[in-house]
Amino acid sequence: MTVTGEKPPFFPAERSCPFSEPPKYAEFREAGGLHKVTIWNGTQHWLATRHADIRAVLSSPSFSADVRHPDFPLVHSNQAEHEGGIFLRLDDPEHARLRQMLTREFSVKRTQAMRGELLKITDELIDAMLAKGGPVDLIQDFALPMPSRAICAILGVPYEDHDVFQQHANAGTDLDVSYEERDRALRTAFDYYSSLIERKRRDPGDDMTSRLITDHEGPDGFAPEMMPVLVGILVGAGHETTANMLGLGTVALLLNPDQRDRLREHPELAASTAEEMLRYWSIVSTDPRRVALEDVEIGGQLVRKGEGVIVSLIAGNRDSRAFGAGEGECPADQLDVGRNARHHVAFGFGSHQCLGQNLARVEMQVAWPRLFERIPTLRLAVPAEDLPFKKNSIVYGLKSLPVEW
Ligand code: HEM
Repeated sequence: MTVTGEKPPFFPAERSCPFSEPPKYAEFREAGGLHKVTIWNGTQHWLATRHADIRAVLSSPSFSADVRHPDFPLVHSNQAEHEGGIFLRLDDPEHARLRQMLTREFSVKRTQAMRGELLKITDELIDAMLAKGGPVDLIQDFALPMPSRAICAILGVPYEDHDVFQQHANAGTDLDVSYEERDRALRTAFDYYSSLIERKRRDPGDDMTSRLITDHEGPDGFAPEMMPVLVGILVGAGHETTANMLGLGTVALLLNPDQRDRLREHPELAASTAEEMLRYWSIVSTDPRRVALEDVEIGGQLVRKGEGVIVSLIAGNRDSRAFGAGEGECPADQLDVGRNARHHVAFGFGSHQCLGQNLARVEMQVAWPRLFERIPTLRLAVPAEDLPFKKNSIVYGLKSLPVEW
């Protein structure tokens, strides 16, 4: 409970231990209910930390994801201007109508069919690392290019242009970047995607961007002026998230050799390893966010129309009411690659649940078993205490990951 006169704590809080949730979130969760937090612009909003409350917020039609709403708890000062009106920031039924134009591209069937291609990319990157010789930075040489090359192939974006879209993703997620700097990076990316789309309009290829233009651009689909933002968001969401997961998951396996050996000896644990890593790291640190369209009760707390609610995915995914409560189950704050963690909320929940989750899953299921099969002696090249974790970012991760073998 907030004591009258005391300013609610700042959100997002830092993970004081890089492997744990911020202690304040655990405290809030154990106290129960929703708690007020203060964000970058001084406004105050509710924070949901229990697994059940997070699911209740994200599945309730009483909340809006529209960043143009005057009371929306914006993640940074450029958000409404750059993302307003894009399908993922709209509410149902309009959001659902537009989203279903994209779902086939990321279906289980489509993404499973990419396994061979993903394995080929993985092997090429491992070959290059081995040829170069350690130590290497696993982020630059593996975790970042693997999902970047995959999303580029899907969308028909030339991978050679990775500097443009990786800078765009950095500026979009690093919360230490100024309004001007982020604005400049987002505008550069907009120009880049506009000219790519123009080229594809003239000369369509066998790729998702060309199909979007041919089949779904226009009054009943995506507005032409939204297309560069849409493709940019898909490229950004499609590589930045999985790249951070691949880096963090590799560290977790290196620091828990018993778990690494279980995965190596039982490759059939690849799927549960990916779910457990998603749960354990819960990399989306500042979102999802919503604003109440009417009075609604969540976790015993009345949220009034116009109040903002932020959910902490890591707090929900470390909630012992949802994980680790069963007989013989590993506690929620520990890593267990054999755990059934499929009900985690790392991909969100409800109608905005991650569109690219099937792709992200297959990428992780391919990457870790292959990496540890081909480089069994992989180890950190610096002490674990020196690993540079991202401190103030929408997506948690590592700035670099020096490894050798
Ligand atoms: C490990 C990797 C990933 C994680 C942890 C992740 C996480 C999330 C989360 C938490 C949301 C919900 C946001 C909300 O409710 O406001 C979301 C939505 C979304 N994600 Fe992902 N994501 C990942 C990979 C991907 C990939 C590979 C793509 C491919 C393009 C992608 C595209 C999207 C899109 C388009 C949405 C918006 C969906 C909608 O609003 O209907 N994500 N993601």
